[in-house]
Amino acid sequence: MIQLKEVTPKNLKSCLELYDTLDENQKKQVAPNAVSLAQAYVHPNIAWPRVIVDDDLVVGFIMLELHADEIPEYNQPGHYIWRMMIGKPYQNKGYGKKTLDLIKNKCQEEGLKSLYVSCTMDHKMPYQFYINNGFKDTGYEEHGERYLKLLFDQ
Ligand SMILES: CC(C)(COP(=O)(O)OP(=O)(O)OC[C@H]1O[C@@H](n2cnc3c(N)ncnc32)[C@H](O)[C@@H]1OP(=O)(O)O)[C@@H](O)C(=O)NCCC(=O)NCCS
Repeated sequence: MIQLKEVTPKNLKSCLELYDTLDENQKKQVAPNAVSLAQAYVHPNIAWPRVIVDDDLVVGFIMLELHADEIPEYNQPGHYIWRMMIGKPYQNKGYGKKTLDLIKNKCQEEGLKSLYVSCTMDHKMPYQFYINNGFKDTGYEEHGERYLKLLFDQ
């Protein structure tokens, strides 16, 4: 069963090592998990880092920015997917989709209006992955990244 779990002393090493499994192109799409965890440490109030586990196997990492300020006023409140990655050996097995489903449920339980993400447009992935999972292209770009959004019925 896929679950999102807190990063602990027990799963930390697996979480850090997952980044090394990405290919060179994929490493350009996402920061190292060590960097994300350092950012989470200095932004404890807004960062929500979680390992993605299948039973006890660590297959990925996701970090939300909770109640992100950058989201336009009319789509507040919303969370922003700050980081997301699935280890190379575990990709294309549906873990990414299932993770987004868990995050969508979390947002809906919290009564949020939106979920945002941003990505480079250099390659078909991960843009296509988000579009396939219901995100809409906002057309807005900043720092070379396109912003995508998912709106929830409230
Ligand atoms: C993007 C990412 C999170 C997706 O995770 P995943 O577990 O492989 O995703 P899933 O298995 O749920 O879905 C993959 C889908 O993309 C499709 N796909 C895979 N490679 C593709 C490609 N090059 N072009 C188009 N579609 C592709 C698969 O066929 C599958 O489609 P389906 O849902 O219709 O079956 C993962 O590839 C990843 O970690 N990439 C590197 C880091 C990254 O880019 N992170 C995002 C930062 S914004």
